[in-house]
Amino acid sequence: MRLVLLGAPGSGKGTQASRLKTHLQVPHISTGDLLRAEVAAGSSLGRQAKEVMARGDLVSDEILLGMLEDRFSRDDTRGGFILDGYPRNLAQAAALDVMLQRLGQPMDSAVQLEVDNELLVERLAGRGRDEGRADDTPEAVRYRLEVYDTQTAPVIDFYRTHDQLTTVDGVGTLDEVFDRIVAAITPARAAC
Ligand code: AP5
Repeated sequence: MRLVLLGAPGSGKGTQASRLKTHLQVPHISTGDLLRAEVAAGSSLGRQAKEVMARGDLVSDEILLGMLEDRFSRDDTRGGFILDGYPRNLAQAAALDVMLQRLGQPMDSAVQLEVDNELLVERLAGRGRDEGRADDTPEAVRYRLEVYDTQTAPVIDFYRTHDQLTTVDGVGTLDEVFDRIVAAITPARAAC
């Protein structure tokens, strides 16, 4: 199963992807996690990305595509994957489409997690307090939500136009949201 999870910062993509990877037995590819690992390692890529991420902006499309191509060159993606955090704009959506077509692995399904802004801010403030993630400050969260609205929201229409989109209510317990996602992807799984 080749699945992409879409939704605003704090909508639960990462949380649900880590549960789904066990359920679907495919790797979870989070571009945010890949970038944070580069930052933690102090690599040249990580040094370029660090400030951009802390203020809540998008890292360059070239860096992301290179990182993704590298990740998709690993054998574990052959049987499918769950993508989280990519694509973040229409240029990335088009580049991903081309890359997956070239690999003969077109996307099976896109699931959008829908959560209202007030709750997103509340969740990210909670994570900021608990985990101290650099981009969970009130200022960065506000900016990330703006970036989502202006640059990432159009990606939803990209998958809608390709007839691959299902929107799921992202409010509820972790189990409730998980069950909704599993139900949403059942037709696409059956067709795989
Ligand atoms: P990334 O790591 O992708 O951040 P994000 O999209 O802002 O995602 P979050 O991790 O904040 O939210 P999430 O939807 O995964 O929610 P989560 O499950 O964590 O990207 C970070 C940065 O990297 C970007 O800003 C950018 O700079 C850069 N970047 C990454 N990809 C890029 C790309 N493609 N192009 C350019 N730049 C890129 O949950 C959030 C919180 O809510 C947690 O505390 C969780 O416990 C809680 N929660 C989750 N579900 C529930 C629930 N049902 N009920 C109650 N609480 C819940």
